[in-house]
Amino acid sequence: MFDNLMLKLDEVVTGILGEWDILTTLILGSIICFFIYNVLSSRDPDAHPMLLARQAQASPVRQEGESAVFRSQSAPHGMPLNSGLNVKDPGDSKWSRGRDGDLRDVWRRVVTGKLDKDGKETGEKGKIFTILGSEKVIEHELADINRQINLIGQSIKQNGGKNVAVYLPNSVELLATLFACAFYDLTAILVPYDLPIKKIISLLHESKADTVVAAVGSFPFGVMTKSYPALKQLIWVVDEGSKHMDWNEVPKGTGGPVNVSTWQEIVQDAAPSAGTDLPVINRNVPLTKVLAFSPSSKLVEYSQANIIAGTAGQLSSVPTSQRFTPADLFLPVDSLTNIYALVLTLAALYSNSSVALNSVAGKSPDLVLATKGVAPTVIVTSPEVLSKVLSEAKARMASPIYKIVHWFQTRALIEDGSMPNSTIFSRPFDSLRPKLGSGISKLRTIYISEQIEEQSTHLSAQNLSDLRIYTGARIIYALASPLVAGAVTQTSVFDYRVDQMEKRSHLGAPTTCVELFFKDKGQYTTTEIASQGEIYARGPAVVGEEADLGIIGKMKEDFTLSVQPF
Ligand SMILES: *[C@@H]1O[C@H](CO)[C@@H](O)[C@H](O)[C@H]1NC(C)=O
Ligand SMILES: *[C@@H]1O[C@H](CO)[C@@H](O)[C@H](O)[C@H]1NC(C)=O
Ligand SMILES: *[C@@H]1O[C@H](CO)[C@@H](O)[C@H](O)[C@H]1NC(C)=O
Ligand SMILES: *[C@@H]1O[C@H](CO)[C@@H](O)[C@H](O)[C@H]1NC(C)=O
Repeated sequence: MFDNLMLKLDEVVTGILGEWDILTTLILGSIICFFIYNVLSSRDPDAHPMLLARQAQASPVRQEGESAVFRSQSAPHGMPLNSGLNVKDPGDSKWSRGRDGDLRDVWRRVVTGKLDKDGKETGEKGKIFTILGSEKVIEHELADINRQINLIGQSIKQNGGKNVAVYLPNSVELLATLFACAFYDLTAILVPYDLPIKKIISLLHESKADTVVAAVGSFPFGVMTKSYPALKQLIWVVDEGSKHMDWNEVPKGTGGPVNVSTWQEIVQDAAPSAGTDLPVINRNVPLTKVLAFSPSSKLVEYSQANIIAGTAGQLSSVPTSQRFTPADLFLPVDSLTNIYALVLTLAALYSNSSVALNSVAGKSPDLVLATKGVAPTVIVTSPEVLSKVLSEAKARMASPIYKIVHWFQTRALIEDGSMPNSTIFSRPFDSLRPKLGSGISKLRTIYISEQIEEQSTHLSAQNLSDLRIYTGARIIYALASPLVAGAVTQTSVFDYRVDQMEKRSHLGAPTTCVELFFKDKGQYTTTEIASQGEIYARGPAVVGEEADLGIIGKMKEDFTLSVQPF
């Protein structure tokens, strides 16, 4: 019996071998390769598909003419939205709810750094860097920045300043002024950098600034004093590049009623022991506001509570494994006068992450240039900048062989739901990828926001998918409005799905500090099957608690937001 069987098998094998030829080898070879590749590369999805199938939750009831209210899955209806950082002061019970906190708590956290179980400093602190030019990077001593915050705050206070306009590119001085205002009860006014003098003056006028901290030579001093008589004090920041210049050339004390000095003078002329300790906090004094301008130059007043809620929302709207950690280096490649970039920077600082600042950020549309000299792990940038990165990468990586690799990686993203790993097939093309940061790219997350007011570039889900493959980083795509600190909604960091039917990507679900609903408008009305209309946002991060965002949107089936044009 068995012999018979063996004989049969032998016959079959001989038969196959007889007809063996090169073509069969090739076909069999590729099938085996494909099989091995699939086994090796198939992985569990990064997020359970159920989590992506329903990303927000709707309130059980809705008002006439409105849709249900939508919230993040992590901010259940009936509970307060996430409003703060849950700050515990020394001596507070471990179980009590902490304070929401304010900007001063963010800076205090930076200075203390990470604490161990017993509340002792571990010495693990975030660092703050400035990128100068293309390769030079300097690290700032936190104690120095602390001193600058104190001395600048005191100087402005002594001169009777109240409303302090900051007219600086991304820099340590910009952050220090913001914190100085928080510690010394001054109103900070963030003026977008690089504007014509007439525009600066009109913005100062509107925001009632009495003090200006500005980059030396960023506007003609004479014109300013003549056209803006409300100015009391001007502090020039002399950047590294201009330090060699004759300081007597900096117009000082010549402004008649304007007290002109330089940042460096104020800091260096003080005794070394002055300004080392942050002022004692009096919690009965109302918190000052932060003023900023929307992309269309409308003045917006943020309370510190708005900004802190937005920051808390950013911290808690991503899964724990993807949050900022002390190992991260965050680089804002967008101006810090943009509230979304600012809030993310505060979130990074509060997480003891390191932060690198580059003065070309926001101005230069070149991401490769802006990330030179450091190896950021997380960046925030704009759709315009990424769209340029994408079209350049596409042009460089157009070979037919790369396209096969790209196809496989797209499949890993879209079908397996996991970030593609580098393989022996993809590695040969690494040198063609966009070079974001020095050395081997450590970039893991890119935050981008679509600004409601701007005629901004929109990215499609396919664009985002391609960018994930080219950069190797996950992408969070957010809807930002000047009326909301942080983001209104943002995509899940693990959402790699691509809907080929859409011209622009969906914008995810509300963050934990915002809820949104739609009011019927024209043909866009909420029905039994669709939630759509004009978008309204509500919550602690929203200026004035509730705001009409002025655009039409709708909830998709998976409860992610899509905005017009659909
Ligand atoms: C940052 O440091 C604080 C203590 O100052 C600590 O409670 C917190 O957990 C740290 N954050 C991270 C993300 O490590
Ligand atoms: C200008 O400000 C500095 C620093 O606060 C102060 O020492 C100086 O007296 C002021 N000068 C005038 C003319 O007010
Ligand atoms: C973005 O995707 C759309 C289609 O989804 C495509 O037409 C467009 O060329 C892409 N943009 C870039 C910069 O590649
Ligand atoms: C993919 O890369 C990650 C991180 O480098 C690693 O932990 C994981 O094991 C890799 N997975 C596969 C299937 O190679």
